[in-house]
Amino acid sequence: MHKPINTASTALPIGLAYHDNKLCFDGQSLAELAQKFSTPLYIYSENILQNNAHAWWQAMRNNFGEYGEVAYAVKANDRIGILRSLAHSKHGNIPCSADVVSEGELLRALAAEIPPQKIIFSGCGKSNSEMKNALEQGVTHFNVEAEDELMRLNSIAKSIGAIANVSLRIVPNINADTHNKISTGRKKDKFGIEPAVARKLYLQKFEAIQFDGVAVHIGSQITKIKPFQDCFRVIAEWCEFLKNNGVQLKRIDLGGGLGIDERGQTTPTPEIYAQNAQKYLKLQNKKIRVLVEPGRSIAASAGLLLCRAITTKSIDDKICVVIDIGMNDFLRTALYDATHRIIPITKNNKKQNETKFTQNIWAVGPVCESSDTFGIQKELTETKNGDLLALTCAGAYGAVMTSSYNARPTPAEIIISKISEENSQSNSIQLLRNRGSIANEIKAENKAATKIHKF
Ligand code: LLP
Repeated sequence: MHKPINTASTALPIGLAYHDNKLCFDGQSLAELAQKFSTPLYIYSENILQNNAHAWWQAMRNNFGEYGEVAYAVKANDRIGILRSLAHSKHGNIPCSADVVSEGELLRALAAEIPPQKIIFSGCGKSNSEMKNALEQGVTHFNVEAEDELMRLNSIAKSIGAIANVSLRIVPNINADTHNKISTGRKKDKFGIEPAVARKLYLQKFEAIQFDGVAVHIGSQITKIKPFQDCFRVIAEWCEFLKNNGVQLKRIDLGGGLGIDERGQTTPTPEIYAQNAQKYLKLQNKKIRVLVEPGRSIAASAGLLLCRAITTKSIDDKICVVIDIGMNDFLRTALYDATHRIIPITKNNKKQNETKFTQNIWAVGPVCESSDTFGIQKELTETKNGDLLALTCAGAYGAVMTSSYNARPTPAEIIISKISEENSQSNSIQLLRNRGSIANEIKAENKAATKIHKF
C-alpha cells in the first residue's frame, strides 16, 4: 500500500468489527488485550493467516494439480508461532514449504518443523558458512543469484559430498509498477543473474550442482496482473531454453509479490494469478513443480499493531497526534511512504464532516526523526490522549523490521486462535514474543564489556 487511501469511504479491514462501539479483531476485544498485554502490541489472527495461505494453496492446486505449491516467504513474518501455524494449518492440507534468505530464517523454519527438503534457500548474498550449514541441515534446493555464488556452492557441496539442486534466479527486466524500493526485476536492480550469464552457466557442468529449474521475483506489493503476465512470458521462454539444452526442468519458482488493498484483500486474487501463470507457462500436464512464494498476501491482513495516543498538539494547519509507536516499531511508512490506516478502538459516532479537523489529523511517532510519521489519518477525529488505536494490515514486514532505535523496546506479539469455529467468543491467546527489555540489553552489554579481547 503506497497510495493515499480515502479512508472515509472504506470498510474496515478483514477481521475487524465494532461490537457495542468497541473494536474487535477476530471477535476479540482489543481494549481487553491492551489491558492485559499493554501497548504497543502486535496482534495476529491465526484464522486469517491460515485462510490466506489456504487461498493460495487452493489456487495453485486448482491450476497445477499436485504440482502447484506454496512456499511462504519467511521474511514477511518469521515468528515461530506464525511459521508453525502455517506448517500445521487447520486446513490440514497445506504442504507449506518455506522460502528463506538467511541462516537465521532457516533456523526459524526448522524450529517450526518445516522439513529441510521443503525449504528453498534464496537471497542475493549467501555466505559460504550459510550455504554449508544449510546443506548439512539437509536443505537441497537453492535459488542462485550470481556466477560466483554458484562456484562457491559447487565447491562447498563437493567438499561435504552433497548435491545442490539449483535454479538460477534470472533477471526478467520487468518493471513491476510498484514502489521503487521494492522493485526487484529490472536490469538495474541488484538481484538475479543477467540472461547472457545465466544461459552460459546452464550449459556448463558442475560436479556438485544439479540444475533443476528457473527462478524469478519481480518485486513486492504488485496490485496489477500485467507485470506478472510479462514475467510468466519470460519464464516460458526460459523453460523452452532449458528443455532445448538438456536441463531437466523440475521446478519453476515464480517468486512472491502479490499486493493487498486497504482492506487487506489480496489483489488480484491468488486464483487470477494462478490462472494466468497456467495460461502463460503452457505446461500442459508436464510433471513440473510450480511454486509461488507469497509473504505479504499471507501475513499482512493477519496482523495489526495496537497503540495509544500519547499527546496531541497543533502544528501549522494540522492536528498532530503523537502515538506510542514509532518507526522502530513499524518502519514501512517511513521507508516506503506506505499508507496504513489507523483506526480508533472506540467508535466515534460523529460523522467525519461534522468535525473541523477532518482532513488534517496527522499521526506521528515519538522517534526523533522527521520521517517518523504515519500520514494523515482521517478516522482519528476526536482522539484524546490515552485513546487506543489500531494500525491495520501490519502482519507482514512489521514485527520483522523492528529495532530498538532511540532505545525503545520492541513491541510484544500475541496470536489469537479459535478454540471452536462455531463460537467466536472462545479464543485462545498465545504470547509469541515478549516485549523487548532495555534493562536486559543494558545487563547484557555490561556483561559483554567485562570480557577484554587482546589482539
Ligand atoms: N520471494 C523473494 C525472492 C522475495 O525477495 C520476496 C520479498 C518474496 C518472495 C515475498 O514477496 P511478497 O509476497 O511478500 O511481496 N519490506 C518490504 C517488502 C520487501 C520484500 C522483499 N522480498 C515492505 O515492507 O514492503
